[in-house]
Amino acid sequence: MSEGREGDAGRAAAAAPAGVRTATLRADDGARLAYDDAGAGRAVVLVHGFPQSRRYWHPQLAALPAGVRALAPDLRGFGDSEPRAPLSLDRHADDLVALLDHVGVARAVVCGLSMGGYVALALWRRHPARVRALVLADTRAGADDAAGRARRDALVALARREGSAAVADTQLAGSLGRTTREREPARVAAFRALLSAAPVEGIVGALLAMRDRPDATATLPTIAVPTLVLVGAEDVLTPVDEARRLAAGIVGARLAVIDGAGHASSWERPAAFTAELAAFVLALPPSPDDG
Ligand code: MLT
Repeated sequence: MSEGREGDAGRAAAAAPAGVRTATLRADDGARLAYDDAGAGRAVVLVHGFPQSRRYWHPQLAALPAGVRALAPDLRGFGDSEPRAPLSLDRHADDLVALLDHVGVARAVVCGLSMGGYVALALWRRHPARVRALVLADTRAGADDAAGRARRDALVALARREGSAAVADTQLAGSLGRTTREREPARVAAFRALLSAAPVEGIVGALLAMRDRPDATATLPTIAVPTLVLVGAEDVLTPVDEARRLAAGIVGARLAVIDGAGHASSWERPAAFTAELAAFVLALPPSPDDG
């Protein structure tokens, strides 16, 4: 890729693991979208949170088990995907369908973390036939309350005034668990670099989209595919009790807690997260969707 819009911090975090293919596609409105593609087998779409990019999933792409193909897009407005409006959650869901069409996958396991979970739920609501199974990580179904919407507006103003590094600084304490923050300065620094690389346009678009997102609670009982709910034991933004409520709303959903991790559970404890994800994906019944 030569069209990145990221600063030095982004480039420092940018080296893709061996064997990862980076490619682009055009969405149905012509917007250019970037994605990483690794491995072969059952397709899993990895949907990043706020304000991240496909690079958030590098630890998973670096250690994919045999039989799994990972597709990790940059949501439009992030990484190397064009920030063409609208930057709504529904638009992101439609972009995932464009990605599946582009790679010739009819149905995929969709794994979304936090904001990525909001997108996964929007995808289920809009295009359930494209979802083979769901992994909802460190996320929630409910909408923002009045205080939450006010915090989004304050963060929009901060992003416009001071840029993405200032936004990254406000996100760090909530995003990473206590164990990571106290014991792993290198992991904290790499995470901060990832967040600081987000373009302001993408940050603002995502904040407004999350502020205005509908309550997805009524969608939960409609979910009719195998579902795994994952959460970091030290997640303070979507705590274990929230994950428990999410799992309880979905028939047959299983909850797994990742020890020693906060809200960015897959980044903080990649081996434990990937093991849960892989076990879930490889245990799905055989289907024509198997790659
Ligand atoms: C995320 O990690 O994507 C955010 O915590 C989501 C949010 O702000 O609601």
